[in-house]
Amino acid sequence: MAKSSVIRPTAEDRKAVGKIAELAKKAGIDIKEGSIRRTSSRFCLGVEHGDYNGTELFGVGTDRFIWMAYKPSEDSLMRLYSGNFPGDGVVEFEMGKIPEPKSPQTADTWARFAYGVDFVLRRAGYKITRGINACIYGNIPGGGMSRSASLALNLILSVLDANGIEEADKLKIVDLAQAVENDYIGSPCGKLDQIMILFAREGFGTYYNPKKQSVEYVPLGKRATDFSIVVMDTGTVRPGLEKSTYKVRRAECEQFVSLLQRAGYKISCLADIKIDGLYEKILAQFAGQYPDLCDRFKYIFAAQQRFYEMLDAWKRGDVATVGRVFREDGIGLRDEYKISGPELETMCDIARTIPGCLGERMLGGGDKGAAGALVKTANVNALKKAVDIAYPASRPGFADKYAVHVCKVVDGVRVYDGMI
Ligand code: GLA
Repeated sequence: MAKSSVIRPTAEDRKAVGKIAELAKKAGIDIKEGSIRRTSSRFCLGVEHGDYNGTELFGVGTDRFIWMAYKPSEDSLMRLYSGNFPGDGVVEFEMGKIPEPKSPQTADTWARFAYGVDFVLRRAGYKITRGINACIYGNIPGGGMSRSASLALNLILSVLDANGIEEADKLKIVDLAQAVENDYIGSPCGKLDQIMILFAREGFGTYYNPKKQSVEYVPLGKRATDFSIVVMDTGTVRPGLEKSTYKVRRAECEQFVSLLQRAGYKISCLADIKIDGLYEKILAQFAGQYPDLCDRFKYIFAAQQRFYEMLDAWKRGDVATVGRVFREDGIGLRDEYKISGPELETMCDIARTIPGCLGERMLGGGDKGAAGALVKTANVNALKKAVDIAYPASRPGFADKYAVHVCKVVDGVRVYDGMI
């Protein structure tokens, strides 16, 4: 991975690195003269829950980050500390000597990401002989902004770098990061998060086509109204995807694909159904017996059609249409895909009342976590005020836990040298 050390750290980067230096000192981790790798969060503009259904994807990197200061160890020892999980203390292990995948004893520690990185890199045949000393601090809220993918990517890129390995194939890095979650941790996530973070570029949307395995950068049309990406963290905590509705929805979609295959349809995923006539035929055939599976399919079909509308609108700078599609996706995710949650919908209901809110919906894995909105910049403060009044009144249990993040579109990965 080429280091973008010519790019200057922001004031926020400096603050975070200052914090990391203090944390490292307290934890006794030597990161002096190491590098800083900053990995972003992501905001998906479509198709949410499309990745494991084979749809094309579009999203941006957002400015909530994980910063990791690291330097290679002298040996194969990993010594890591996270300022976000002080209770886990210093995580120390020799590379290659890690608990079995999906071990219950690692289920509650963030260290499972570091173990998982060791596991997948070795399995893939990389010659990893050196561990790293590292200290981490992040401000990505959990549930909706891809904190886990950001962490897995950060660790993979840093361990490869410490071992002098340059992996030029970024999609391979995506697969490795997904494997950390799928194969070591046991979370059934797709590839959306990893792609949208690893490829993210300041000022651009990232467009991924799974059939072509291609990534393109799409600038927002020049005449676009000034708008902001707002993330409304409900303060609720979602357990891992493996313990949530996500796993059920994924299985339902796979079940429907195999039903369709057995009935003679030549498809490999729900995204393969793009034509109205075929869609109607399938619904006529299956809706009576499998109403729920058909509902999931209805969302994917409609969201996929809207995806192209959204992408064209983005290119033209027609933010109102991008927002409308975002809202329609949200209604589909709520009513057909049924992956949203009550607190997420409270946030959406509040956002919808604000003039200048172009669209809003749940974000990411579902059930809990964060909802998002596309809002004319002039109206962002009105949205914040509305959330401050209405959300604690509606959800008093989360009155001191929710947060509103106004986000910028940023680079997914940056590396800074000479900061510590
Ligand atoms: C989570 C998963 C992704 C994706 C989204 C929903 O973030 O990790 O793979 O499925 O949910 O779009």
